[in-house]
Amino acid sequence: MDDIKQHIRTIPDFPQKGILFRDVTTLFAHPAGLRMAVDGLLTPWVGARIDAVVGLEARGFILGGAVAHQLGCGFVPVRKKGKLPAATHAQDYALEYGTATVEIHTDAIQPGQTVLIVDDLLATGGTAEAGIKLVERLGGQIAGCAFVVDLPDLGGRRRLEALGMSVHALAA
Ligand code: PRP
Ligand code: ADE
Repeated sequence: MDDIKQHIRTIPDFPQKGILFRDVTTLFAHPAGLRMAVDGLLTPWVGARIDAVVGLEARGFILGGAVAHQLGCGFVPVRKKGKLPAATHAQDYALEYGTATVEIHTDAIQPGQTVLIVDDLLATGGTAEAGIKLVERLGGQIAGCAFVVDLPDLGGRRRLEALGMSVHALAA
């Protein structure tokens, strides 16, 4: 999956000084890039029971929608606070450059459903852990978490694996 890395650019000092921001919009815009990413994300789960893909705002929506389409299951968004119209559960979290709150619709996952979490990037794991907590609060079971990029120095993989999660990433 070295090709994937070539299509991701790094923007220094975004969104704040000292952060090297991995920008996947260039991967998504490449004719083969989006397909490579989506195919790579779903490969470990072909043939597995996945009832829903949960995508984490914002780039997890682009990837997660395509992964759900390919797996033939539904897509559920985990959104930043205040965007979902019906009743929600909320979860606060911290990430590399701040804190935030994400929400899920309370009826988006049924107890016992098996869920694949999808996002573009794993850094500290704060965002993914918030998504996991929301799914588990609804009684969903997490089959795994799939990312295009893992930034290993930020410890996200260790953090999610310590929660018992199966973590799949296409590039470091
Ligand atoms: C980025 C990225 C992940 C998250 C990873 O999103 O898309 O969702 O950070 O960081 P973490 O592992 O430290 O939690 P961001 O919060 O920048 O929001 P956006 O997708 O809405 O731009
Ligand atoms: N989310 C947290 N850290 C990030 C980074 N370095 N690049 C892109 N998204 C991120």
